[in-house]
Amino acid sequence: MAVDLLLGLQWGDEGKGKIVDVLTKDYDIIARFQGGPNAGHTLEFDGIKHVLHTIPSGIFHDNALNVIGNGVVIDPVIFKKELENLDQFEGLDYKAKLLISRKAHLILPTHRLLDAASEASKGKAKIGSTLKGIGPTYMDKTGRNGIRVGDLELADWKDRYSALRDKHIAMIDFYDAKIDYNLEELETEFFKAIKVLKSLKFIDSEEYLYQAQKAGKSILAEGAQGSLLDIDFGTYPFVTSSNTTAAGACTGLGVAPNQIGEVFGIFKAYTTRVGSGPFPTELFDEDGETMGRVGNEFGATTGRPRRCGWLDLVALKYAVQVNGVTQLMMMKGDVLSGFDTLKVCTAYKYKGETIEHLPYNIEPENVDVVYKEMKGWQADLTGMTEASQLPSALMEYIEFLEKELQTPIKIVSVGPDRTQTILR
Ligand code: GDP
Ligand code: IMO
Ligand code: MG
Repeated sequence: MAVDLLLGLQWGDEGKGKIVDVLTKDYDIIARFQGGPNAGHTLEFDGIKHVLHTIPSGIFHDNALNVIGNGVVIDPVIFKKELENLDQFEGLDYKAKLLISRKAHLILPTHRLLDAASEASKGKAKIGSTLKGIGPTYMDKTGRNGIRVGDLELADWKDRYSALRDKHIAMIDFYDAKIDYNLEELETEFFKAIKVLKSLKFIDSEEYLYQAQKAGKSILAEGAQGSLLDIDFGTYPFVTSSNTTAAGACTGLGVAPNQIGEVFGIFKAYTTRVGSGPFPTELFDEDGETMGRVGNEFGATTGRPRRCGWLDLVALKYAVQVNGVTQLMMMKGDVLSGFDTLKVCTAYKYKGETIEHLPYNIEPENVDVVYKEMKGWQADLTGMTEASQLPSALMEYIEFLEKELQTPIKIVSVGPDRTQTILR
């Protein structure tokens, strides 16, 4: 059976957690393929909100197993806290439902410190990272120095840990920025968390998923971040350190490209970004403020306010193309209710020329935005359950996007709850 993918098409926080939760009833396995606790995936049901960072968003369902793939980086300390949050759910036997790839890399306390030192030393040029140690951990992975989950089963892993820690300490001293830390406390917390991690089941996930596919199990791969944060195709250097695009699911799970089935691409009806970096349709006016307030646009991991702006079709087309998206899902349509007029960016004026593709550099000094204005809608969408109830102006918006993106919009989300999901 083919493996379906679900990916964010913008700068993250599109609503991946919510939709994975909605789709899980149709899958046997949900598998996270990249990123780490920089992600914050929000699910809402029965009036309660849950934020997951490392654990796949299928964990609340009985029918599915959840795999943390080799492409993920795990901070045992954050992971332990996530598990403790799950303890409040009676009957949720996560030990039976969560499987961890031996090839996933570990975020060490000193990776977090290095992230902080690197950011602090950059001053104005900082990436705006989540300070979870993501960049330094992937650097050690590609530098072939990393410590993997499977290493915890080896006798000498603590020696390797100490050697890497000492190297990190020397590197922290290299940065100008002064970082205060108490290594002893950090390590006590870390080794406690490692014990908890070791109580879970480790697997050779590529083999596990291969056998599952052969046995006819259905698999949904869950992405983190968004295409514009991809290390290769995003707005470099203001990106994360993994491949967030479709190819990342192949390398992050060991799934062969010819085994990929549907590619679900998720986007917000507008655009948000948290952290630094260019954002051509960003709004600094009342409209942007309204989106942020109505959409409750605060980072699920860091609590930082998200920057808001109109939908950018140039960037979205690029993401659809790079990922080979087969079905789209439009989130947060309800947040746009009440605007008289909406704007959609259809082209960029780039160095005096009108272009419809994403150029090498979208810094504000190079790009002016060309907008198409569209009629807004006033109705409150949050109680709607059928596509036939959606206002005509919203249907025009949806149909315009489908035509431009040459891809059907199959889900329209009208609120954060599981039930506020309209299928088309
Ligand atoms: P993710 O990282 O892609 O999983 O997205 P986040 O959880 O970081 O951010 C999405 C936010 O929007 C969360 O607070 C969700 O509860 C919320 N959300 C998701 N879909 C909708 C929607 O259709 N309407 C509204 N108003 N909120 C939504
Ligand atoms: P989810 O999965 C939104 C952003 C950070 C920063 C940049 C690099 O919830 O959509 P990093 O900590 O990865 O080195 O930060 O990427 N970023 C995200 N923005 N949603 C996320 O994840 C993000 N993960 C990282 O804000 O700009
Ligand atoms: Mg998020």
